[in-house]
Amino acid sequence: MATSDFDLVLFGGTGDLSMRKLLPALYARDRARDLPPDARIICLGRDEKSREDFLKLVEKDSKPHVPAANLDASVWERFTGRLQYASVNAKEADSFSHLKDALRDIAGLARVFYLATPPSLFASICENLSKAGLVTPTSRVVLEKPLGRDLKSARDINAQVGRFFQESQIFRIDHYLGKEAVQNLLALRFGNVLFEPLWRREWISDVQITIAEELGVGGRFDYYDTSGALRDMLQNHLLQLLCIVAMEPPVSNSADAVRDEKLKVLRSLKRFTPTTLAMNVVRGQYRAGHVDGVAVPGYRKEADANPDSRTETYVAVKAEIDTWRWAGVPFYLRTGKRMADSLAEIVVRFKSVPHSIFAHQNDTPNCLVIRLQPDEGLHMNLMAKQPGDGMRLRPVELELDFREKFKTPRMDAYERLLLDVLRGHLTLFMRSDELEAAWEWVEPIIDYWDQQEADPVPYNAGTWGPAAASALIGRDGLQWREEALPEV
Ligand code: BG6
Repeated sequence: MATSDFDLVLFGGTGDLSMRKLLPALYARDRARDLPPDARIICLGRDEKSREDFLKLVEKDSKPHVPAANLDASVWERFTGRLQYASVNAKEADSFSHLKDALRDIAGLARVFYLATPPSLFASICENLSKAGLVTPTSRVVLEKPLGRDLKSARDINAQVGRFFQESQIFRIDHYLGKEAVQNLLALRFGNVLFEPLWRREWISDVQITIAEELGVGGRFDYYDTSGALRDMLQNHLLQLLCIVAMEPPVSNSADAVRDEKLKVLRSLKRFTPTTLAMNVVRGQYRAGHVDGVAVPGYRKEADANPDSRTETYVAVKAEIDTWRWAGVPFYLRTGKRMADSLAEIVVRFKSVPHSIFAHQNDTPNCLVIRLQPDEGLHMNLMAKQPGDGMRLRPVELELDFREKFKTPRMDAYERLLLDVLRGHLTLFMRSDELEAAWEWVEPIIDYWDQQEADPVPYNAGTWGPAAASALIGRDGLQWREEALPEV
């Protein structure tokens, strides 16, 4: 379905995110005929550059990120025909006149300002857009993370942007919400009757959410070292996944109905105290090791690294939700760089049968695994009778591989989220109160770590993280999924 006509303005238009993700995603949607014929993309950078030179840059830095199988010369020509370049200094009001000249003044035209810049520039960009008279009731602004470093800075961003844009015009990106499998989780929970009656403390024993990456931070040390796993992944991606698993059924799929429910989850998360923090949060940092058989350096030895850095590259947390539905059900969240595998998954473990009538039933509770990446799918294990004599039960797997099931072309997270912005659909974007509630919950962790003299606990690159994380879950008599799986 094509969007209505728009001018999309990319601040940071020559930067890494634009070249690697945004322009290839827009190309893909152009190829799928989702962009109207006259729609335009105006890329902004600080340097003076001709359109021709900018197009050469796109050819060099962006085109290689379009999968070769999707490259089609005539579509590429149509797509690059939409691209314009203007030089704008975010901090200088005068330079916004260049942008004004590049924009069309058509009533009702959607004008989207995508701020793929450091958040320190958000305030001046919004103010200068407003001064130049470019913010209209049909304008939208898209904010890329990091959306703050703590509660105060997140509030400042909300307040600064909120001076010039209404909440209904602000799209705060968390690209995890654009992933196909996350959408599928909504479909699983609210498009079926099967799971909802069981989706509660009476039947669920615990939930694990893992985002593991084999990659280290090579090349991004400067950014990452000021952020760490808690700010980079837990405050946003992991908490958003937790919200979707734990929220009550919204009354509709409308933006506020969904976001109201997510907000309730964030506000029901049990607050940490110094005692519970010491028990329920693990902070790790990778040291040298092997990933896929290749020797890799430790975090403190990465290029441009600070050899004394205390930044965490791994975090594991036991979270609890104080509601009737979830009281007493632990949600274990973890994420790390340089881990044994690259995957993102949600594991929902059910309770054991209340009474076993079979003598030979080994106690393997039912478990539902929602796999976000690398493959998107659902795995459910059930107990079944082993064929043959006697009544022996053993676990069997039901597998649903979405790629196999649906042969239709996929959309990556940025494609989906950009389309939603262009169509004005806010459901998959965080509202200001959600953002603040998420920071409010992680803030005691940040404060606690800041007061600590201790270094993060080390783990070898290429492993599943520090032993302390196994101990965290082990205290509850449980194991992380890979520890619980039989050796193959
Ligand atoms: C980003 C983080 O938000 O998400 C990165 O800044 C991380 O550090 C990335 O690598 C992971 O996203 P994905 O989609 O590759 O799992």
